[in-house]
Amino acid sequence: MKIISLLGSPRGLKGNTGRLLRIVLNGAESQGAETEIIPLKGDSVLPCRGCDVCHQKGVCVQKDDFEAIKNKIFKADGLVLASPNYIFGVSAQLKAFMDRCCGIIHCMGFEGKYGASVITSGGGDEVPIAEFMNHFLTITGIVPVGAVWATMGSISGDDFPQEIRTRAFDLGKKIVTDWKNQEKPESTALEMDAFYRRMKRLMIFRKDQWPYEYDYWVRHRNLSN
Ligand SMILES: Cc1cc2nc3c(=O)[nH]c(=O)nc-3n(C[C@H](O)[C@H](O)[C@H](O)COP(=O)(O)O)c2cc1C
Repeated sequence: MKIISLLGSPRGLKGNTGRLLRIVLNGAESQGAETEIIPLKGDSVLPCRGCDVCHQKGVCVQKDDFEAIKNKIFKADGLVLASPNYIFGVSAQLKAFMDRCCGIIHCMGFEGKYGASVITSGGGDEVPIAEFMNHFLTITGIVPVGAVWATMGSISGDDFPQEIRTRAFDLGKKIVTDWKNQEKPESTALEMDAFYRRMKRLMIFRKDQWPYEYDYWVRHRNLSN
């Protein structure tokens, strides 16, 4: 199994989020996964311009790392998102990537992959952020197996407490085992199914404006010409 992870902290691998992500990936590697961390620097994936070209042509016009990262995810089996809590939400670096996936979302183009979310904060409020990140995974077609977080303000010393380390390591293992067993909780299946039907209606409505996406649905999904 190949897992791509996107790290949305400007502090990179040495920051809190990068260190917690590393433990998750250690867990995945213990089950045989190959992993790669892609740090999202401010200029590597720029904000969406809202030009709609991705819907029309299937690629973004901006010349940055987005298309290369997208293609790496297409080739991988898993995607882990990692972000610090920045004002009750994900960092702008990760949010820019999420916004740029608008076309992927319309096609649920990462279907069949497995993923998870990693968050660190100063003071808490990680649950709604984890739910948002895992909802993003679901609407791209990825089965989220869970999330792990750490509230740094309640941790003394340089390392994460053993309980958090265990949760992070086990989450990484679960990505691999759930992928191997093709586990899909009923709640995820229902959420995906509802979103699938919503996107199908959108494609029919936008048939003329968004030819790439409409054609994708005709070729890959249950939508006839
Ligand atoms: C711009 C900015 C906004 C932040 N907003 C919050 C916040 O709303 N709530 C919170 O608990 N921590 C907040 N923090 C603290 C970070 O979430 C926390 O330090 C996190 O562990 C940083 O991760 P990193 O070392 O990977 O960058 C903020 C930090 C920064 C720099």
